Amino acid sequence: LTGYITLDPGYKNSGSCTSEITFLDGEEGILRYRGYSIEDLAEKASFLEVSYLLIFGELPTAAQLEDFENGIKKHSLVNEEMKNIIDGFPKTAHPMGVLSALTSALTAFNPKAVNVDNEKEMYEAICKTMAKFLVIATWTYRKSMGYPLNYYDNTKGYVESFMQLMFKLPTGPYTANPVIVNALDKLFILHADHEQNCSTSTVRMVGSSHAGLFASVSAGVSALWGPLHGGANQAVLEMLEEINKDGGDTEKFLAKAKDKNDPFRLMGFGHRVYKNFDPRAKIIKKAATEVLETLGVEDPILDIARKLEKAALEDEYFKSRNLYPNVDFYSGIIYRALGIPTDMFTVMFAIGRLPGWIAQWKEMRENKEPIGRPRQIYTGHPLREFKSNK
Ligand code: SDX
Repeated sequence: LTGYITLDPGYKNSGSCTSEITFLDGEEGILRYRGYSIEDLAEKASFLEVSYLLIFGELPTAAQLEDFENGIKKHSLVNEEMKNIIDGFPKTAHPMGVLSALTSALTAFNPKAVNVDNEKEMYEAICKTMAKFLVIATWTYRKSMGYPLNYYDNTKGYVESFMQLMFKLPTGPYTANPVIVNALDKLFILHADHEQNCSTSTVRMVGSSHAGLFASVSAGVSALWGPLHGGANQAVLEMLEEINKDGGDTEKFLAKAKDKNDPFRLMGFGHRVYKNFDPRAKIIKKAATEVLETLGVEDPILDIARKLEKAALEDEYFKSRNLYPNVDFYSGIIYRALGIPTDMFTVMFAIGRLPGWIAQWKEMRENKEPIGRPRQIYTGHPLREFKSNK
């Protein structure tokens, strides 16, 4: 059971679904978007090309990609009144909580429901979501630092604009380091979709009631926030820093992770589906080494991560449970090297996952799927006569 009860075929869809978007093979460690391997896409495509592929089903022609980029630029301005909403949050608010609230608030400024049967309207809504979500995601960082909010730079590409939105100072020009832009582009591709994971299933479930795209994505952000899901990349860094502070004794933390009386788990290890290496982890691990070398960053945390991974992969407890590093184990190390603060790591995951959420929401609506209604197995009291306990 995948968490939903799939009843006899006669019963309308109760939560499980069919999809043409992403294929996973947990035993073989295979991940494909619309039939293309994640290895090929991470190496040969850009994040916007992959976003287009996930959402519309085919890799874009040069003209389609240019039109998609222009569509995003056209909608990159966020209503100035949204600043009143972000001003209401304390600086200490977690960026994921702010992002979820701001994403839902976008509905207030874009009240027109998305008519999924109208291709043009759907396309506009998708470009609007890709553009405005990126801007407000960076606003959560700027707000937490007490910095003025930046605007999307329509003269730059999507990932370059992200860097500019995050780090541009109020005065003077900003040029993003191409090494960082390339690394982020690849990381966003690796996070773009992952079949019916917790947050994507949430987006589909909320969208199945015909709630709008912004409201559905906002729910996905909240689901992703959890430390067992997207919040794991932040938890991995905090765990590695704790091990480092504790003198780097990985064996001690492995023992904690195996102790049933200890709630500690090895963050960044294990997966609901992969019972083999998460293919994304392999690519990110290689990228982490390359990025740190290229940027000349010496990070003892990377050495701790490698030591911990080696020990866990050789450990009987982890081997017998098919616990391997997942997408979150190394990604935080790269984000840190790129100057992204720890509490923004899950926001980075959300930016990468956005096209997947959009694609899955669009597919569910275009397939005219019924409202999601997972069933249950009742294990409570049988009928009993009322007798007051007063
Ligand atoms: C993501 O679904 C997706 O696709 C998600 C994702 C995506 O792209 O959307 O891939 C992104 O969420 C990756 C996962 C990030 N989370 C973490 O890294 C948190 C740490 N991992 C665990 O909490 C856990 O592995 C889960 C939640 C990821 C998976 O949990 P499962 O499949 O329900 O595993 P389980 O709880 O059934 O564990 C099986 C056994 C148990 O021991 P026993 O009861 O058999 O003795 O393995 C143990 C668990 O205690 N175990 C771990 C462990 N993960 C599982 N023990 C120590 N450390 C761990 N990390």
